[in-house]
Amino acid sequence: MRKPIIAANWKMNLGPKETEAFLSTFTGKLDNLTDQVDVVIAPPFVSIPAAIAALSSNSDVAIAAQNVSEQDNGAFTGEVSTMMLKELFVRYVIIGHSERRTLYGETNAVINAKLKQARVANLKPIFCIGETLEERDGGQLEEVLSSQITEGLEGISEKDMKEIVVAYEPVWAIGTGRVASAEQAQEAHAFVRSVIAGLYSSELAEKIRIQYGGSMKAANGAELLSQPDIDGGLVGGASLEPQSFLDLISAVAESE
Ligand code: PGA
Repeated sequence: MRKPIIAANWKMNLGPKETEAFLSTFTGKLDNLTDQVDVVIAPPFVSIPAAIAALSSNSDVAIAAQNVSEQDNGAFTGEVSTMMLKELFVRYVIIGHSERRTLYGETNAVINAKLKQARVANLKPIFCIGETLEERDGGQLEEVLSSQITEGLEGISEKDMKEIVVAYEPVWAIGTGRVASAEQAQEAHAFVRSVIAGLYSSELAEKIRIQYGGSMKAANGAELLSQPDIDGGLVGGASLEPQSFLDLISAVAESE
């Protein structure tokens, strides 16, 4: 049984003060939902200390970074290292989000280096993959996902793979309100799992949690999660208000 994992990707939203306010409301209403659902929040770097401070009494909510450098340290202006994140008690890191791929030129090779760097520091990567609408319409869905997975995971050991969460995010569904249908998402998730099985083993692939991302919210979360290969969500817009994020987590917990 794979425990569902719902992660908030705040992107470039919610500064330290807003983070503190969000979390005081959020943790007050979270009750025992983390028994059924793993909850992760990825604030912007500068809001991470405020998030950690606000969560001090609630370690059931894990903090993620939205990106990390593939370098150890040194002359890399504007970058943040895995060790700096560890010092702040960050547990997860989002790697290879489509906005990083398209707006900041991250290639599969860079993403691969970041995944390895994260694992050296024992951070749990949320490894994002997904196709554009053009690629889907052009019949390249499987080819794109397969190369993102194969090149992204190149040289990652079985032991490290067990600590990676995969996020399938069709680019055309991100921030557009146009959610993939449960069938479309399930089909892609099953394919992703089969590629992982081919690279490692079916046994390992069955243990990997694969999140769906792209306009996920309370109204569609339970249906998506009811699919056999959908094990959670990476959530942007619907995670920016405590109540809407709580509603989604409750919907997922109730459907379990
Ligand atoms: P969205 O973003 O929920 O706003 O579509 C998801 C993501 O980009 O991770």
